[in-house]
Amino acid sequence: MAFSSATDVPVQVHNEGGSKRVVVTKNLPGERWLKVLTAAGCRVEVCTLEDTILDVATIKKLIGKKCDGVIGQLTEDWSHELFGALRGAGGTAYSNYAVGYNNVHVPAATDNSIAVGNTPGVLTETTAELAAALTLAAARRVVEGDRFMRGGQYKGWLPDLFSKIVGIVGAGRIGAAYARMFAEGHKMDIVYYDPYPNKHLEDFIGAYGKLLESKGERAVTIEQLPTVEDVLKRADVVSLHCNLDENTKHLINAERLGMMKPDAVLVNAARGPVIDETALVAHLQANPDFRVGLDVFEDEPAMKPGLAECENAVIVPHIASASLWTRSGMATLAACNVAARLSGHPVWSDSDVLPFVDGPFEKIPKASPSIVNASDLKLEKVK
Ligand SMILES: NC(=O)c1ccc[n+]([C@@H]2O[C@H](COP(=O)([O-])OP(=O)(O)OC[C@H]3O[C@@H](n4cnc5c(N)ncnc54)[C@H](O)[C@@H]3O)[C@@H](O)[C@H]2O)c1
Repeated sequence: MAFSSATDVPVQVHNEGGSKRVVVTKNLPGERWLKVLTAAGCRVEVCTLEDTILDVATIKKLIGKKCDGVIGQLTEDWSHELFGALRGAGGTAYSNYAVGYNNVHVPAATDNSIAVGNTPGVLTETTAELAAALTLAAARRVVEGDRFMRGGQYKGWLPDLFSKIVGIVGAGRIGAAYARMFAEGHKMDIVYYDPYPNKHLEDFIGAYGKLLESKGERAVTIEQLPTVEDVLKRADVVSLHCNLDENTKHLINAERLGMMKPDAVLVNAARGPVIDETALVAHLQANPDFRVGLDVFEDEPAMKPGLAECENAVIVPHIASASLWTRSGMATLAACNVAARLSGHPVWSDSDVLPFVDGPFEKIPKASPSIVNASDLKLEKVK
């Protein structure tokens, strides 16, 4: 055990003689990420505190007087205070260990000339898959069934998803992957709400529908609807995949829950505050046939009172991206974001990030895989 060079916060130090100091607020899986940072000449200090969520004061202590870059977690509040501290310590790079960055005040980072990285491209299918697992578990009452079997109370009943309508709120990377799983696998029609059309998804499902028709089967369809309310009213299953911001906080509230079918399934593997969880608990209590599958919670890691007692909720502890390949890939992307920035390398502009996470170490591109404020900071881009 060592201690942060500035304070009494316990850290594990790697590559002690490295000229650039990078702080990692929680240990990360795999080894490639550490190799990336040490190869870039960084002394890496990994916080070993057992607290799962670090507060701003502790992170400031970790940053100390000299710190070139930080890899942080989505449970941390990265705003003016921390970016000011990082800049004061000479830092120029921060990467979230997540694709979502609602915990990061990006303009505050930009004001302090700090690049903000995230980790898209390795968790799309993994997260969509868990959302699909929650959908099926909630719709087909898998968890209740398991409990009944173990309790010696075998009974038979249940609805069927085949040929029903799936609604997507936020048809970006993950929402589109989820839509395809249900259109292709379960032949469900897709309706979606997103401020922007997803033409690639529409073209794909349109072509798949034609293929089905050519084989004598019913074509699946896809339609972008004008409002989120339209999706809630039409769909049998609604899965949330929008990013969390001021427009999507409590997007699903009591009024909108009331517009959904009484036996609908709602899934959230996006961010907890997209749903007003107190209103959701009341809705679940009043509508026993309504079901929900949740990976994320409004006051994570806590749940709102009453949720744990709702038999019609399937709840898992934010594990949607928790496969070993995805989580170590995220660590590598976060390390490459920081290492490349500290080495003055450009920003990768291709959505394919596999060259960073798979393949020979020596062939990792000399670039930051994803910097969300690259344009504002006028960073050079490379393909
Ligand atoms: N549970 C997990 O472990 C986990 C893992 C990965 C990502 N996520 C969450 O999933 C989100 C989506 O990830 P992604 O990679 O698909 O991002 P993305 O940027 O590709 O997709 C987000 C989509 O939401 C849309 N959107 C924005 N505002 C909206 C609104 N008001 N209504 C409807 N749609 C809106 C955007 O236009 C975009 O198409 C992330 O922001 C993150 O918060 C959760």
